[in-house]
Amino acid sequence: MSFRRLTVPLAGITASLALVIPPATAQTAAQTAAAPGDQERPVTTQGHGGPAKTPVAEGYGGAVATVDLDASKAALSVLRQGGNAMDAAVAGAATLGVTEPYSAGLAGGGFIVYYDARRGKVVSIDGREKAPRAMTETAFQENGAAIPFNDAVTSGLSVGVPGSVAQWELALRRYGTISLKKALQPAIDVASGGFVVDKTFYDQTDQNAARFADFTSTAALYLPNGAPPPIGSVFRNPDLAATYRELGRRGGDWLYDGRLGQELVATVKAPPLKPGSTRVARPGLMDAADLKAYRALERAPAKTGYNGMDVYGMPPPSSGGSTVGEALNILEALPKVGRHEYLEASRLAFADRNAFVGDPAYVDVPLGGLLSDGFAKERACLIGDVAMPNPAAPGSPDGSYDGCQVEGTPLTGDPAAKPGEDGAEKPEGPETTHLVVTDRWGDVAAYNITIEQTGGSGIVVPGRGFLLNNELTDFTFGPAPGDPNLPAPGKRPRSSMAPTIVLKNGKPLLAVGSPGGATIITTVLQILVNRFELGMSLPDAVAAPRASQRNAAATQAEQAFIDRYGAELTAKGHTFVIAPGPPVGEIGAATGLEFLGRGKVQAVAEPARRGGGSALVLSSRP
Ligand code: GLY
Repeated sequence: MSFRRLTVPLAGITASLALVIPPATAQTAAQTAAAPGDQERPVTTQGHGGPAKTPVAEGYGGAVATVDLDASKAALSVLRQGGNAMDAAVAGAATLGVTEPYSAGLAGGGFIVYYDARRGKVVSIDGREKAPRAMTETAFQENGAAIPFNDAVTSGLSVGVPGSVAQWELALRRYGTISLKKALQPAIDVASGGFVVDKTFYDQTDQNAARFADFTSTAALYLPNGAPPPIGSVFRNPDLAATYRELGRRGGDWLYDGRLGQELVATVKAPPLKPGSTRVARPGLMDAADLKAYRALERAPAKTGYNGMDVYGMPPPSSGGSTVGEALNILEALPKVGRHEYLEASRLAFADRNAFVGDPAYVDVPLGGLLSDGFAKERACLIGDVAMPNPAAPGSPDGSYDGCQVEGTPLTGDPAAKPGEDGAEKPEGPETTHLVVTDRWGDVAAYNITIEQTGGSGIVVPGRGFLLNNELTDFTFGPAPGDPNLPAPGKRPRSSMAPTIVLKNGKPLLAVGSPGGATIITTVLQILVNRFELGMSLPDAVAAPRASQRNAAATQAEQAFIDRYGAELTAKGHTFVIAPGPPVGEIGAATGLEFLGRGKVQAVAEPARRGGGSALVLSSRP
């Protein structure tokens, strides 16, 4: 394809647009399309040649799926050079930090679930951000009430101590074969060579433009000429390329005990507001000692047996593994499973998630109880032919299970939720991202990466090319006495990220995950239900219309779900609201793998959501 540039007035400004005109090559596009101000600089074709973007690929020797072609190509290039799935996962994540910088980045965090083929075991690596030691239970309150959620989003206060770099180093040291420097190289190539701005990048920049404009460093990077880079232009991030280069040379200590960390802390404490801005950007509490104390952790994964398979997910501080696992166990205990049962099992599992799950270093999470068959049977008893009254009360995962008793205290709404998480006010948007990789040895990585909100805190560390996270908004702001997810010094906020690997007879069968805040859990659960209960192929299970019930009066859903199943489910007492997005009416952006036998693997990404994702395989032949 090639791009012809047009200049048209758009919303009071002059925007440069690119039209896509077949049939020239993608390389030509990269060479032709240049952002304003880029014209003098040669455009490299790094990252733009090779395979086209497709949502499903089948083949052998290794496979990858991400939301983005450049990131998938980066991961595949590592596999091609002999790296393993962990090496490729880190390379892909670092590249998503370039091309999906509003969802991923070195100043964010994430969770990896990994099948290590040599050892025949599944492990997980926690790179979750942490609260600084100065953060107290009331940090997000003023005068005894929660501060406005959006004030916290765009602030230094919500910036958690970043986990991604420590996670990359731990993951490569324990399970990888290449250095951090080598794993960062594909991302450096894309950051310096540039990538072609697509509609998703444009839209996400545009949605954030008002707050990006308030910070000098962010506006300089993401609003060149005062506006989002146009679709079809080439976007380069030389600051990030230089940061990755230096990080590769110096290692994580440069962030956790060095100059980069000092600059990050200075930015958190004094966000670089544009002179004259009226925004209140609350300063953060992080200091150099918080960075120095950060550790990524290897944790035993959450595991549950389900219909003869073993489902592995992320344990606390993520609620992903426990909530997906509990819901699957509830479904397994029912005589039949359809969409009504899916919604009800999800409702119950969310009631328990909200009541019991937080950082296990601070909260005694009854993980064994939540994932036990006895507890699931007790919970399954509550599911009848019609939707249960809202909200469902949490159960008692205490080891003593005696049938169909309603236990616990009914909650009024979801006290552990972010404002609006239980209904329609606060969007659970497309935030976060997920990638899957497998290699020729049969290792499998499912990796959720996030900087929390799309665009994180909105604050770029000056001259370094990356955004700060706002992960601490995943805490319950309170007041909410007894809530397991209130802030505390050094605590990790509860996550919903749910990278998931399914084994059958001890061998990988499927891997899946998604972005989408708390809807991550329902998206992963629904894909598993579609695949294993409703008989869909993995591509169909991913593409199918979605609904997200999180112990709320109304189930958030995509329009196509309401069109197809709304009547039958409404007759059972369910009510629906359109998922708030953005984009409105869209839930998640999943990626997955299915192992088809005899070494064949199917890599799957979204055909349409978030502009469609990219699945690639190393070879089409065995
Ligand atoms: N920040 C998204 C999550 O952790 O669930």
